[in-house]
Amino acid sequence: MNKCDITEDTIYQCFAAATTGKTLGATATSFVDVEEYENQVMYPEFSRWAKKAGYPQIAELFLKVAGEEKLHATWLRKLYEGMGTPARGEDTQRAIDALETIRKNSDALIAQDPKTVIEKALKVAIKVEQREYREIYPAFRDQAIQAGQKEAAEVYQRVINSEEQHSQWFEKALTTLENYPQAA
Ligand SMILES: [Fe+2]
Ligand SMILES: [Fe+2]
Repeated sequence: MNKCDITEDTIYQCFAAATTGKTLGATATSFVDVEEYENQVMYPEFSRWAKKAGYPQIAELFLKVAGEEKLHATWLRKLYEGMGTPARGEDTQRAIDALETIRKNSDALIAQDPKTVIEKALKVAIKVEQREYREIYPAFRDQAIQAGQKEAAEVYQRVINSEEQHSQWFEKALTTLENYPQAA
């Protein structure tokens, strides 16, 4: 078996892309579904890996970001009272299944090569956040602007700014990790 049999592409399968719906309400449902998945499943799992790999500060960072993803969903839910549990998006379900598969091997991989697993998780987290703030959520904001929904557009813009900050935090953590002494 290779020293670390996991790739960035494999971990990236844990990313669920929210999609622009035909209506602003459908877009909001997809958004909340994905943000709550990141809050409840994806980032807590990345945090567990970091803790197990011996990087408690990075584990904390993943949990901090998880908390902010919850906040993003809460901001939008205020505009869509009565949304309840959003319908599970196809891509979210696929991501949940991918994460479950990785979870089965993750402990063994972390034991083999902790630093590489966390380095890859951070690189994926950066990619996830960048895709959200550069591509996916600007489209949601523009849909809201076109529909004359100023409040929703403002919420999406606030989210865009926050996701950009997340990517910066993860970039900084990646630099820190690269400065860590290589485990013997
Ligand atoms: Fe978010
Ligand atoms: Fe984020």
